[in-house]
Parts: sequence; structure tokens; C-alpha cells
Amino acid sequence: MKSTTLQRIGILTGGGDCPGLNAVIRSVAKPAMSYFNAKVIGILDGFEGLVEGRMRELSPLDVTGIINLGGTILGTSNKGDPFHYPIESPSGVTITDCSDKTLKNYNDWNLDALIAIGGEGTMNIAYKLAKMGMNIIGVPKTIDNDIEGTDITFGYDSAVALVTDAIDRLQTSASSHHRVMVVEVMGRYAGWIALGAGVAGGADIILIPEIPFKWDSIFDAVVKRSKGAKFSIVSVAEGARPEGGKFIVQEKDIRRTDPIRLGGIGAVVANRIFEATGVETRVTVLGHLQRGGSPTAFDRILATRFGAMALQAASRGEFGCMVSLRGRDVVTIALEETINKRRLVPADSQLILVARAVGTYLGD
Ligand code: F6P
Repeated sequence: MKSTTLQRIGILTGGGDCPGLNAVIRSVAKPAMSYFNAKVIGILDGFEGLVEGRMRELSPLDVTGIINLGGTILGTSNKGDPFHYPIESPSGVTITDCSDKTLKNYNDWNLDALIAIGGEGTMNIAYKLAKMGMNIIGVPKTIDNDIEGTDITFGYDSAVALVTDAIDRLQTSASSHHRVMVVEVMGRYAGWIALGAGVAGGADIILIPEIPFKWDSIFDAVVKRSKGAKFSIVSVAEGARPEGGKFIVQEKDIRRTDPIRLGGIGAVVANRIFEATGVETRVTVLGHLQRGGSPTAFDRILATRFGAMALQAASRGEFGCMVSLRGRDVVTIALEETINKRRLVPADSQLILVARAVGTYLGD
């Protein structure tokens, strides 16, 4: 392990925003400024800012009073992969490798370390930049909670809290009108939000990408409930699909780190339920409400721990790693351990077992 003088620390937020990003920025910047007497360079709009040299030094005031603030004071983007950088011209978009330019900007700004806060795409980019010689440390974020190597990502708890509140509200309406309420939540490949909030909100049917569903199983559950409780709540992840079916894609954009944008399965499920059972059904799509607003206390604490531990790792000269929650401790793991993987809900997950135990249908 090499030790490093920390005089100039770069920090960026990449990919979709989520509650807790500002808490990480704060917990890197405050000790960096006060204990290490270092300058903290905020890179604007994720890796886009590093490719284009858009950065500015943060002041103590910039990072004061932001622990409870959603979004990111630095801005973010999911179109800034330096290795597949979209260059727009009147003739269209050309995808170009801008990694050399990115490394040059890092060196020109005399950065001793770079803290990259982001999801799977950000960690993959971080790994490749680390191999080119950048002193980089990843901090995992995503409301989807699907990053391999950490027990949980910050942002997830805030998203689950919001979805649970939405389910509670939908339940009173569903029970008053004897309806089915379908709530579509985020979760492209992993169903952690639909499952977590579904369990917390007492959803009757939970549909997640990891368990392709059978239509008949959903219709049977709705009919049974319509004879007893007389209402049903369906929590469906945007990446859920029927057996043999496909994701419902809203848009494909090659400039994005993940070109596919999902959405629409909630309406499909609601229409099919009504057609097959005749029970009145409504759909609510929570969309980006799940990524907005103030982080929960849990997320503020986790984000603060992640940021402070990332700075500690940088001070030890430990790079090419990601901070991660393992059990009760925040540790560092090599970026190799997380890249090109996704933490899906395992079939034998205790959360699935308990959902089934309380009578929830998983659509299988
Ligand atoms: O990866 C996080 C996430 O919130 C996904 O659940 C969702 O599919 C995606 O971001 C939406 O991205 P965008 O903000 O670009 O529409």
C-alpha cells in the first residue's frame, strides 16, 4: 500500500441521482479540508465534467447544510462514459474513446485522488481509469440496491420509505373502492425496491425481474382477494416481465451508460388484470419521486460513513477500490470484485420467504 499526500482531491457524482449524494460529498470534503488541509475539487455533471475539464474548487460553505439535501450539488449525468463518449454533431452522435483526454484533465488539475460516487456504470468506468493510473476510489449509490460487493447502497432506504408511504395511501383508497391498485416502482434488473416496499407496505402481489411471472397466478390471487378482503395491492418493478416475455422499453439512447430506459409494465399488468377478472384496477407510476427528496436518517448515516471511509482509504494510498458495507462495518473491496456484476434478489432470499409466509403472491 502506497501512502499519498492528499493536497487536491477530486469528487464526482455519476449516473442517476439519489438521496444521500450530498451527504457523501460533505463527509469527504469536511475532513479533507479541516484535517488534511486539502483542496476539494468538485467535478461537475459526473464523468462528463472530467472529460470536458469542468470543475471547481469547493469551499467549506459549499458543503455546509447539505446533509439533508436530495440530488447532488455537483450535478450528474448518465451520458459521460469517457471510454464511450458521445460527441454530437449536425450529422449525428459519434461514440469516441476520450479516456486519454480524461486522464490529462485529471493530471492537469493535479488531483492526488478521485472519489467517484455512482452505480454499476460508474464503478466500471472507475476500474478502467484506475488501470490507466488514476488514484480512484468508488462509493456505491443507487436506489436499486443492486451493486455487488456491498450489503446495501445508500438511496435504497429513502426510496423504500417513499414507496411504502405510497402503498399505505393507495391501500386506503383500494379498500374503500374495492379495487386493485398497481404501483410501478424502479428496479431495472433487481427487484429490491418492489420487494422491500411490498413487504413493508403489505402488498398482496409482488412482481420482480428475478421471478418471471405467470398471468394466471396473478389473476387467481386477485379473484381470491376480491372475495375476501375485497382489494389488492400489486407492487411491480419496472423490470418485471411475464414468463417468456420481454422488458417494456420506453427508450433506447446510445449516449447513456445503460442505453435502455424501462417503464410501462404497471399499466400492462393493470389492464390485463381488469380484462381477465373484471375487478376495477388503477395504476400509479412513482417514477422519479423515488429518487428525489431528503434522505432518510439511515441513508444519511451510511452515506456519511462511506464518504469518510473513502477519504481514509485515500489517505492510506489505497486506490482501485470501493467502500462497502459488510455486516456492521464499512470496509474497502477491490473494484474487480464489483464490476460487471449485479446483486440480484436471490431465489432463497429471506425477504422472499417471509413475503410468502405472510401470504404474498410472487407471481410464480
Ligand atoms: O438505476 C437507477 C434508476 O433509478 C433505475 O431504477 C431506473 O430505471 C433509471 O435509474 C432511470 O433512469 P433515468 O433517470 O435516466 O430515467
